Parts: sequence; C-alpha cells; structure tokens
Amino acid sequence: MGLEPSVFDLRSWLERTEASGDLLRLEGVDASLEIGAASQVNYRRNRPRALLFDDIPGHPTGMRVLTSSLSSSYLMGAGLGLGEGLSDRDLVEALRGKPAQWTAQAKDFAAVFVEDGPIFEHRLSGDDINFTNFPCPVWHEADGGAYIGTGCAVVTVDPDNGVPNLGAYRIQVQDAGRSVTVNIEAGKHGFQHLKRWFAKEGRAPIAASLGHHPVLLVVAGTEVPTGISEYDYAGAILATPVPVVAGPVTGLPLPAESELAFEGWVYPNRTRPEGPFGEWTGYYSGGTTEVLCVDVAAIYHRSDPINLGAPPGKPPHDYSYMRSVMKSAMATDALIATGLAGVSGVWCHEAGGGRSIIAVALEQRYAGHSRQAGYLAAQHPATAYMNRLVITVDSDVDPRDLHEVMWAVSTRCDPAIDVDIMRRSWGSRVDPLVRPGEASYNSRMLIDACRPFERLGDFPAVAEANTESLDVVRRRWPELES
Ligand SMILES: Cc1cc2nc3c(=O)[nH]c(=O)nc-3n(C[C@H](O)[C@H](O)[C@H](O)COP(=O)(O)O)c2cc1C
Repeated sequence: MGLEPSVFDLRSWLERTEASGDLLRLEGVDASLEIGAASQVNYRRNRPRALLFDDIPGHPTGMRVLTSSLSSSYLMGAGLGLGEGLSDRDLVEALRGKPAQWTAQAKDFAAVFVEDGPIFEHRLSGDDINFTNFPCPVWHEADGGAYIGTGCAVVTVDPDNGVPNLGAYRIQVQDAGRSVTVNIEAGKHGFQHLKRWFAKEGRAPIAASLGHHPVLLVVAGTEVPTGISEYDYAGAILATPVPVVAGPVTGLPLPAESELAFEGWVYPNRTRPEGPFGEWTGYYSGGTTEVLCVDVAAIYHRSDPINLGAPPGKPPHDYSYMRSVMKSAMATDALIATGLAGVSGVWCHEAGGGRSIIAVALEQRYAGHSRQAGYLAAQHPATAYMNRLVITVDSDVDPRDLHEVMWAVSTRCDPAIDVDIMRRSWGSRVDPLVRPGEASYNSRMLIDACRPFERLGDFPAVAEANTESLDVVRRRWPELES
C-alpha cells in the first residue's frame, strides 16, 4: 500500500516487544471466557507480559487478539517512547512533567491525512458486515455478550470546529454481528459531540479503530484536555504525527495502520440493551441499559487483523496499571499547576481503579497546607470523578507504597481531628454503592496523615537505619538484596 510502517504500526510494536521478552504467544485459547481468564492470570503476575492469542477456535490462523499491552512499567515505558526496560520508579520519574508538555506540543504534531493505508486492505459492506467473523471475546462470566471493542478508540468529531476526539468506549456485538453498541457515558467528550450532531442533523457520524498501537489506547482512555485531539496528543507523545485516512463514508479520520475498524452513523432513538459488563470498579455494577446502536456502513481490516482487548474487572485488570500511571502523572502536574507548594508526589492507586484512592505526598510549609492539598486533590477536575479517599502524607512517605501510606495513617493521623468528609460529590453510575436510577453522587473521605504542622519540630523521630548505614551494608553484603 506504499506506506512504510510508522512508529504507530502495531506489528512493528509486536516485533519490538517480542525482542525485549515482553510478549507471550498463546494458541488455541477460546474467545469465550478463556482469553479473559488467561489475561487475568497474567495481570496478577509480578511482571505481566503482553499476550498475543492466535489459532483462536472457530477462526482462521492469523486472526488474533492482543491483551495486557500496557500492564507493566516495561510495556508502558516502551509504548510511550520513554525508554526500554524502565522499572516502576524509572517510569514515574520519566513521566514527570510529560502530560503538560504533551498538551503544549500537541499542535506541533497534528495528525497527517494520507491517501491510503493498510487498514483498507479489505473493505466490507452490506451483507458482508458481520463482526462475528472476527474473534469477539466474552471477557467475564456474567457479561451480557461479546465485546469486540475494549482497547478501542472511538472516533467522533466536533460538529462546529471539526476537531476529532478518540475515546475508549466499550463496544458490544449486537444483532448476531450485524451491528454494535457503543457505551459512552454522559459527560465524555464523545457523548458531547454526538449530542450536538443530533441537535444539528438528527444523526451523528461515528467510527472506531479496534486494533492499533497501544499508545492510541492510552490517549483514548485518558482524560486528554477538551479541545485537543487525542491523535495530536499521541503525536506529541511519540514525537511523530499519526498518519490517518479519511473514512470513505463519514470522512472521520481512522489510523491508517489500524488493524480493524468500522464507520457508520448513530441516531438518538436507535438503541439496544447493553451489558451487564465487568466494570473497572471490579463489579457488574452498571447493569443493563439502553445504549446507542451503530448503523454500520463499512468494516475495514488488514489481512490477519489483531483485535486489541483491554477488559476491566476487579483490579489489577488490563488497564489499571496504565490508568494509575497516567492519572498519577496528570494529577501531579495538575496539582502543581494550581500553585500548591511542596507537592513531592501523587499516586492514584490501582486498588481503587486509579480513581478512588489518591495519596498525596508533600513538604508541609504552613498550618493547613496538608488539608488544602487533600481538598484540592479530591475535587480537581483531573481527579474528582469517582474519587473516594484522599490521603495526604509527608514527603518522607512514598505515596506509591500502600504499606508506607497506611503506616503514616496509623501513626500520624488522629481520626477525631484528621478525617473530613465531603458529600454529594462527582460519583459514577458504575459505583456499586449507587442503586439503579439514583443520582450518582458519592461522598469522599480526606485522611490527613501528615505530622501535625505545629509538632514538626518535636514529633518522635522515625526509627530506622540511616542512609549511610544502609549504603555500607548494601555494598558489603549485596546478597542481602539478591
Ligand atoms: C479500556 C478502557 C475502556 C473504557 N470503557 C469506557 C466505556 O465503556 N465508557 C466510557 O464512557 N468510558 C470508558 N472508559 C473511560 C474513557 O475512555 C476515558 O474517560 C476517556 O478519557 C474518555 O475520553 P474523552 O475524555 O475524550 O471523553 C474506558 C477506558 C479504558 C482505558
């Protein structure tokens, strides 16, 4: 097709990932529940690898499913072009300040339209449209159906200024494979676009890429600031514009190297029951709801296409590590940008799906500083959605280490004065505590686990070996740590 693979080509990513030992190939695993179960075993390993499933029963060899593409620091570091072999700590360091930089640079790496791309190797329309011809995983036991889109990037466009948006919104197979539903929560950028198209033209163009370089999943699944196209943001991350092709039916931009994609239209009153689905909270808490169903005009795919799966569920799940890392980097930048002094680290814990539990470490500068940090972290737009617990700790505590954080809670926090509750905050429909039909408020708890400011001078010293002694014993007896 005349296009040299770009850095966004998934197949080149697979080659690099296999070379670094971070890819495992599995054959004969069934798309119904087995791919999901195998992936879950993998997420809970010390160092999860990306899993590439081939010879999926009922499908020709070569039609593959990829999962766990972002589930370790090694995969994240390489996927974001930050370096090979990055440990957890290295990755966090490498990400410092990056989200703000990518936001600023997005305009310099605007997506580039190309005439043609591998995605157009096969074009299906009319009676040939059937998603069940591709492996469509049923991820969890009680899911309402098969999902061809989890690690997907759903494309919509602002009807007024033409700026495209990518969102990871799950896609369930409907009508025996003839159509799909796209589950976009109200408030998400894609939903706002559709609503405005409906008001203007009575229908909205929609498209989705179902297999692509994992960096496109990162940007589609992360709250990139309003008005910035995730394509351009991805371009800034890898310092190369994303090559895109215009969908022949809707004109929406699709990654030229996408593995599998579709385009079509949605109408305000064309819906189908969707779900239940194992949600990121770890429960089937969303139930079954009516969701927009796509009138699919065309499917496009490469030969031997790869579907990128990223199922949520009880954490750790497919993208909980990615969510934690990205949320934490963005929250750190956002909190510093408020002008709050002394922030030394923010971590959005995987146990809370990267949203519900936030630890903020800071160098206390004045009385009330730690409480201010807690309130800001709990309600800043970058972190407010579905937060439940904010814990502030002093800068000698590693906010990423729950053991250390809870040690600070148990020794520096007096519950009678150091716990505040904020009510009627921004919750979620998928909160297992929210009853169906109820408004999805939640409350959140701030735990101030910093030493009391007025006691910084006389608070008991921490009882542990000092850095010098540790350096000496580590040098002399390296076997201690091997
Ligand atoms: C793998 C994955 C699946 C997701 N599924 C959904 C979903 O089904 N519906 C939804 O509204 N958000 C879902 N999200 C969260 C959104 O993708 C995320 O909030 C993103 O920022 C939305 O894009 P937007 O900010 O452009 O609206 C998912 C995220 C990931 C990473």
